[in-house]
Amino acid sequence: MALSTKHLLGIKDLNSEDIQLILNTAGQFKEVLQRPVKKVPTLRDVNIVNLFYENSTRTRISFELAEKRLSADVVNFTVSSSSAAKGETLLDTVNNILSMKVDMVVMRHSASGAPHFLAKHIDAAIINAGDGINEHPTQALLDAFSMREKLGKLEGIKVAIIGDIMHSRVALSNIYLLKKMGAEVIVSGPPTLIPRYLQEAMGVKVEYNIDKALAWCDVANVLRIQLERQNQPLFSSLREYNLAYGITQERLSKLNKEIIIMHPGPINRGVEMDSDVADSQHSIILDQVENGVAVRMACLYLLTGRTNPTS
Ligand code: CP
Repeated sequence: MALSTKHLLGIKDLNSEDIQLILNTAGQFKEVLQRPVKKVPTLRDVNIVNLFYENSTRTRISFELAEKRLSADVVNFTVSSSSAAKGETLLDTVNNILSMKVDMVVMRHSASGAPHFLAKHIDAAIINAGDGINEHPTQALLDAFSMREKLGKLEGIKVAIIGDIMHSRVALSNIYLLKKMGAEVIVSGPPTLIPRYLQEAMGVKVEYNIDKALAWCDVANVLRIQLERQNQPLFSSLREYNLAYGITQERLSKLNKEIIIMHPGPINRGVEMDSDVADSQHSIILDQVENGVAVRMACLYLLTGRTNPTS
């Protein structure tokens, strides 16, 4: 089985078979990661550059671990210590790196569409590790893997995506993926943080009342308030945001059921989610991070076109 795409630029470009293939392959790699020796020779002689033009903790470490556990050769690029800081263009930077015989590029960029631009100009396979407010495909895949692991399926499950939907690439990738896999999705949060096109163009239901959203869902995927992407205030204060939309134990204890709590990280504790919720037994936030390595191993492996995941 092979993916229908050469690059992984967004969930928008994948079909349900691609998603199923990535999640099933990630399951095989998760087994590898439980072994005493977590390394397989699968991507020996494959050269990968991690090109991070924007800060990251989870995605960057996760990709590097995934690459090393597949025995790939890895180079890390940080914009602040590179010649990009002297004005070198993205295309010049990448072409210079590729001339050193790199096979694959993992890229995070603050500009939406940057990896798509690159894909038009270079031959190497590109994985989007988050582009602006557009997509974060591997986050959506690891979220889906974690939901499927917990609930046994994706079809028919009810997922509420809560918080700063407007500025979230995680929200868009999750919506594409969950709808392709037959899950039900609503978005919830302040009206100023929910773009109107979601309802009309993507058929996603909007529920402005957070308590109703929580009462409806099996899974609450709670998103970070991205103050760095807001040019002007979109709600009155962080304290008031927490009171009106924050996920608190008090809110959860009013539900007559248990729901799964997710967050892609980094968490603004005490804003979109209280600490006792983030650290509760219902939270699978660290499972998401753990699963990220296996999911990224699956994406890297499948994009190289190699035919045996563990040798
Ligand atoms: N979830 C996520 O993308 O986190 P980082 O920004 O730390 O990579």
